[in-house]
Amino acid sequence: MLSSPFESAADAVRALHVELHRFAHAYYTLDAPLVPDAEYDRLFVELQALEAEYPSLKSADSPTQRVGGAVLDGFEAVRHRVPMLSIRTETDTTEQGARAFDARVRKELIKRAQPMQVAAQAKNASQTSIFDENSPLVTESIDLDAIEYVAELKFDGLAINLRYEQGALVVAATRGDGESGEVVTQNIRTIGQIPLRLNTDRQAVPEVLEVRGEVYMRRDDFEALNERQRAKISAGASGEKTFVNPRNTAAGAVRQLDPAIAAQRSLSFFAYALGEVSSDAQVDSQWALSQALAAWGFAVSQHTRLCVGADALVAFHADVAAQRDSLPFDIDGVVYKVNSFEQQRQLGFVSREPRWAVAHKYPAQEQFTTVLAIDIQVGRTGKLTPVAKLAPVFVGGVTVTNATLHNEDEARRKDVRVGDTVVVRRAGDVIPEVVSVVLDKRAGDAGEAFDLYKRLGGRCPDCQSPIVREDGEAAWRCTGGLFCPAQRKQAILHFAQRRAVEVEGLGEKLVDQLVDAGIVKTIPDLYRLGLSSLAALERMAEKSAQNIVDALSRSKTTTLPRFLYGLGIRNVGESTAKDLAKHFGTLDALMAASQSELLQVTDVGPIVAESLLQFFAQAHNREVIHQLRACGLNWPEGVARDASQQPLLGCTVVLTGTLPTLGRDAAKDMLEAAGAKVAGSVSKKTSYVVAGAEAGSKLDKARELGIAVLDEAGLLALLAGGA
Ligand code: IVH
Repeated sequence: MLSSPFESAADAVRALHVELHRFAHAYYTLDAPLVPDAEYDRLFVELQALEAEYPSLKSADSPTQRVGGAVLDGFEAVRHRVPMLSIRTETDTTEQGARAFDARVRKELIKRAQPMQVAAQAKNASQTSIFDENSPLVTESIDLDAIEYVAELKFDGLAINLRYEQGALVVAATRGDGESGEVVTQNIRTIGQIPLRLNTDRQAVPEVLEVRGEVYMRRDDFEALNERQRAKISAGASGEKTFVNPRNTAAGAVRQLDPAIAAQRSLSFFAYALGEVSSDAQVDSQWALSQALAAWGFAVSQHTRLCVGADALVAFHADVAAQRDSLPFDIDGVVYKVNSFEQQRQLGFVSREPRWAVAHKYPAQEQFTTVLAIDIQVGRTGKLTPVAKLAPVFVGGVTVTNATLHNEDEARRKDVRVGDTVVVRRAGDVIPEVVSVVLDKRAGDAGEAFDLYKRLGGRCPDCQSPIVREDGEAAWRCTGGLFCPAQRKQAILHFAQRRAVEVEGLGEKLVDQLVDAGIVKTIPDLYRLGLSSLAALERMAEKSAQNIVDALSRSKTTTLPRFLYGLGIRNVGESTAKDLAKHFGTLDALMAASQSELLQVTDVGPIVAESLLQFFAQAHNREVIHQLRACGLNWPEGVARDASQQPLLGCTVVLTGTLPTLGRDAAKDMLEAAGAKVAGSVSKKTSYVVAGAEAGSKLDKARELGIAVLDEAGLLALLAGGA
């Protein structure tokens, strides 16, 4: 028998309860989310809709009736004097979301204001506070055409309630389920941006003041933490891991039982709301509140704006969207709050959400999709990158079908397999990546664990050369070098780029055409191109063909550093190419250099030396160089430096302040001629700091690190070999 619509709705509601409770527990309590936020929101809205249609299905234990989270064993619980509520999320991520909120606010205010509007016409200028129980409902005539709002960022962190008594921090608690949270005072005290005592200079502090805000982690602090973790892991530390994202790392740190660990995590804090306040807070709007918070000593976001009317909210939403990826921390949207506390009070709450605030999110940067295949791409230097081919998915504003898995270690760590459901992330212009696999959804017939070597049978998929993976390297590489067809296009583009020999107009499309047509196989082939073969290409006018021929001819006169850089030798960037050219003077001297000779060059260590030796050892690379010279590529050759005349080889020197007689450039030239590297900032690697008059922070830093400091006389003695 078919079930009734009510019965199937009841089934759906039960299923949604189970799923949402599980996801909320993973997210709030374990700090290990199982699904992207957008997916959680979608299911939540689905449940809200069913409950609206069938009110009898709404139970007290529904996920819509509480905020997720429970007290962890080991933390004391505290009841919030004023519940910590959540804000409604505007589901429409377009500008309509902001307009819909404004329309609701105006409608509700009109409804409430009407009976009293007449009385209120006589404008009452007295300032009232929401903390004053006896304030009249309407104190001012309201301009209902243009409501004032405060627009803020929606920080992606962890909400915290800070209780100050007589100006001193006494208890800090997490939101928990909104009614009671966990006491995390010791951990919170480690956060530098949270005042332990409030500043009373500019703003009186009520006897009891609860400040609410978001603990978060800056992206640079997060990256630095992961870098330290990776260093520990590669040094063999067991039980260490890298962290997935700043939000979970911040939440994990706040809920550490050991405050020493929280202290190491560099957390930050923004204040944005109040909890319980004794009745003497002289604040009557959200805008005044953000100023009072700053006066008390809290960090308040510089992006907070006072907006009048819906258009201003729309503009704020667009403005923040444009800056989102360059902010130093993650946000998942913006929050609009009605500015006047009086209006906030009139609007009140619906179930557990204020009518006066809304979260307006941005299109999700993470989505689910399935892995159709795992391909392996060959890069310019032969790096083999596993790439997941995905069922098309709209994420971060575009349709994504490929996502990088970075390298074999990453692919294995995430254990991505064909057929898996995965979370893909695309933030800004960053290449889309697979964040994680939803193991729950792995089918019994999912592919095998990824093994790059096995998949390729040990050979490059494009040229069949053997592949290698060096010690300490995460990536496998094709050893085919410039002759590997997959590397060829990339190598040609690299050689022709502006910072290498520069062939103007030789872009990706043209290189594709030339290589695909088999006209160009190696870099020297470029210089054998005739006008007719270029002009014969599709969509190539005679004039453009002539331009390319001219550009190629101009590029023949170059410099040794540009030529070296253009060869695309692994680990040889622009500045290393310059150092090599300066040191050896000629290409032949460089090609003939032994490992120990290479190691004499500034900034050349064993890895760069090895890359150079490998490159020049390959006959086909030497052949390419020979042919390029035969085609007329030329550069002024210099003279090799004699190491015996370079007493400061391997030294790094920093100049600061004004020297009595030597100009800065003269000092720099003399140092470089003696083989030293002149750097701009002081670090542990600095050998000497040369300080003149008015030397500033660099001198302080040198003293702090115990680095030798010289004056001009000392410098001259050093150059003369006397130090
Ligand atoms: S105001 C009643 N302002 O979003 C309103 N919340 O869903 C109280 N959040 O728990 C919150 N940025 O963790 C507010 N500028 C902001 C916020 C913000 C992030 C978080 C906060 C809160 C959740 C509400």
